[in-house]
Amino acid sequence: MTPDRRIPGDWFDQPVPGNVEIHDEAYVETAFSFLLYRSQLAAGVRIGRGASVYLGTMFDVGRQGRVSCGAFTLVNGARIVCDAEILIEDYVLISWNVFLMDTYRVPADPALRRRAVIAAASGEPRRVDGHVEARPIHIKRAAWIGFDACVLPGVTIGEGAIVGARSVVTEDVEPFTIVVGNPARMVRRIEPGETTP
Ligand SMILES: CC(C)(COP(=O)(O)OP(=O)(O)OC[C@H]1O[C@@H](n2cnc3c(N)ncnc32)[C@H](O)[C@@H]1OP(=O)(O)O)[C@@H](O)C(=O)NCCC(=O)NCCS
Repeated sequence: MTPDRRIPGDWFDQPVPGNVEIHDEAYVETAFSFLLYRSQLAAGVRIGRGASVYLGTMFDVGRQGRVSCGAFTLVNGARIVCDAEILIEDYVLISWNVFLMDTYRVPADPALRRRAVIAAASGEPRRVDGHVEARPIHIKRAAWIGFDACVLPGVTIGEGAIVGARSVVTEDVEPFTIVVGNPARMVRRIEPGETTP
């Protein structure tokens, strides 16, 4: 990183926010990933050694949100919606267009929802958020989330687990298992040394 926290060669002409920690050996493709970032915490996003955050990734982090991408994680264009905490451990692989959301931001009751959208219309920035409780997400070491999958609030994904493409993960995933579908269900365990799928 350059001293003014601009990413060398970035097409997006803005600096990385001051309270984002990026390891010297990490790769972040563009500061555009922080366009929706509003965390007021000391380190609202931490990106660890050897981690890669590619084009299309958006850190949509609320004022009290905190996201951590561990060492050698690979985040390939995910939408990360966080008002509490999303902890991604080392060696995790997150494929294209994955959604990780620790909050829905929008209330279930239509009367409350109406109030929230009216408030958003006069707010700066114009956003509906902070109206519902957030529940942290934890993705453990070396898990792999397939493309277009969605991980919902409160979920823990166990070490080495695989989430199939386009799955919707509503419950915790056991370590070293494969889950698929909507809602995601376990289809099998991963054998040590397995080279497929
Ligand atoms: C999850 C995945 C890895 C499983 O592969 P696999 O172990 O070879 O699993 P199989 O193909 O044997 O499928 C097992 C069962 O799950 C079903 N299944 C597999 N993937 C599924 C998915 N994404 N959604 C719904 N069902 C799925 C299969 O139809 C099969 O069902 P059946 O037993 O009723 O016939 C693979 O299907 C997948 O989703 N890969 C996406 C990887 C990816 O996103 N790569 C991007 C590059 S990082």
